[in-house]
Amino acid sequence: MRETNSNSAVHPTTDIVLATLSGCADARLKEIMTALIKHVHAFAEEVQLTGDEWRRGIEFLTQTGKKCDGIRQEFILLSDTLGLSIMLDAIHRQHDVTESAATEHSLLGPFYREGAHDEAFGANIARTEGEPALFRGRLIDESGKPVPNALIEVWETANNGMYEGQDPDQPESNLRGRFRSGPNGEYAFRSIKPTPYPIPTDGPVGQMLLALGRHPMRPAHVHFLIQAPGYDTLTTALFSSDDPYVDSDAVFGVKPSLVVEYVTNESRADAKEWDLPSPFFDVQRDFVLTRSDEAA
Ligand code: BEZ
Ligand code: FE
Repeated sequence: MRETNSNSAVHPTTDIVLATLSGCADARLKEIMTALIKHVHAFAEEVQLTGDEWRRGIEFLTQTGKKCDGIRQEFILLSDTLGLSIMLDAIHRQHDVTESAATEHSLLGPFYREGAHDEAFGANIARTEGEPALFRGRLIDESGKPVPNALIEVWETANNGMYEGQDPDQPESNLRGRFRSGPNGEYAFRSIKPTPYPIPTDGPVGQMLLALGRHPMRPAHVHFLIQAPGYDTLTTALFSSDDPYVDSDAVFGVKPSLVVEYVTNESRADAKEWDLPSPFFDVQRDFVLTRSDEAA
């Protein structure tokens, strides 16, 4: 072991491997590979990784690759369950979180599907049973100005914990839809209160969670993908405050600011106005978008 220019102690082997990068013309690639090699070597040294253990690791990565196809992406699931996906978000949005009122981001997840139907303000996207819920609020910018005509895509699981795209028994377009914000930035749609569900566990990532004594559950949530010209795309989700997994999301997507209360609305007039049974759950939540030119 000896000191390098960056003052971190590295094994002589690490230095030999790093020296092979001297001809790399891509500065960013060189930076990334230098750090990767250093960390991987330091990791092997720290845990005194054996040949057998690394062979098991390689087998795990091989199975992870084999599980991937046009729809299933086991490497993203691995990244999600190791907290790497949400870590990237934390690194690049640190500035926003501390210094702005902008709505925080969360994971897009693998179940987003393009081509949702356009729905009118207040439409009901639930074609299967559940506890009726109204989601409503406004899209505004950081100065409170309304953001009209933004595209709002929403999707959530049915009561059986499956998204429409996972479950051939669900009607087409169940629990997903595409809305536009109104002239004052307002949006509203009717749906059901979501349920918690497990991330896919029939692959190596599921086996990893089991071996680690971790559960595979995501707390109940509704996904939102919000796009408006001149604003950063907002990929986020709203989580139910009363969910048993809200503090232990398998993919670390929950942020306290995204946890909402499903308030029981007992107003018969409201139920009538929204054509919902009484009582219903009322989730009122604004989304604050960031202007693109203010992006870090
Ligand atoms: C989801 O919320 O749909 C999701 C996110 C990450 C991994 C698996 C599912
Ligand atoms: Fe989800």
